[in-house]
Amino acid sequence: MPALLEARGIDVRYGRNNAVRTVNVSLDHGEIVTVLGANGAGKSSLLKALLGTVRADGTVLFDGVDISSWSAPRRVRAGLVMVPEGRQIFVSLTVHENLLMGAYCRNDEFSAETDAIYDRFPNLAERRDMPASVLSGGEQQMLAISRALLARPRLMMLDEPSLGLSPILVRQLFDLIRDLNRDGLTILLVEQNTHMALATARRGYVLELGAIVLEGGSRDLSSDVRLEEAYLGGQPDRAGP
Ligand SMILES: Nc1ncnc2c1ncn2[C@@H]1O[C@H](COP(=O)(O)OP(=O)(O)OP(=O)(O)O)[C@@H](O)[C@H]1O
Ligand SMILES: [Mg+2]
Repeated sequence: MPALLEARGIDVRYGRNNAVRTVNVSLDHGEIVTVLGANGAGKSSLLKALLGTVRADGTVLFDGVDISSWSAPRRVRAGLVMVPEGRQIFVSLTVHENLLMGAYCRNDEFSAETDAIYDRFPNLAERRDMPASVLSGGEQQMLAISRALLARPRLMMLDEPSLGLSPILVRQLFDLIRDLNRDGLTILLVEQNTHMALATARRGYVLELGAIVLEGGSRDLSSDVRLEEAYLGGQPDRAGP
């Protein structure tokens, strides 16, 4: 069986800024894999390259099919779905309207799935017809993940989902990620919360200034001194003469 995702030689450039440098990543079916790295390391740019929302060089195989030239909506329809950094909830729309946006690429019946989502998240069900602005940060993250679920992902990419959440909500979020994975979802998790990410993922990659400087099993990465160095040494604002 081919890997669910195999990306080779991914390069993203913004003008002269080479934000992602010849990155190779792969995910097997059913894995949780994390991508770690300091601010500006290129994590979001890598996810956008995989999703097809920034121009990138390199090859992306999804379940063995070369999707490198596909548009982002076509990739979403194939099951490559992202929960973006900062959640990107539309606060003037209702909770339900936000949820339905996840189904924009579908033309089949999905009411059973929205019912299942409201069963899973009673807080969202109670606020279904209220503007999403009434939601707390944690509830907005649940809504962003629910919206992504409605796109029927085979691979869900989460960009710093724990950002700004209290420790209790972070724990709930990681429980949810594990639950979704147990239900069969493959997950690519970008995080700055290295501790929680490595406790959840099977393997990880560490990005520094756009390049992978370290990769391996979560336990090995947790105890690798180079992980901390990647965070400190890789900070653009700390790069002195
Ligand atoms: N749209 C853009 N135009 C120009 N430069 C960009 C753009 N997006 C990101 N960059 C630059 O590319 C580099 C990588 O940014 P990216 O957002 O991918 O990093 P990141 O690891 O996700 O950081 P963070 O942890 O802050 O989210 C940075 O130098 C950033 O300034
Ligand atoms: Mg980012």
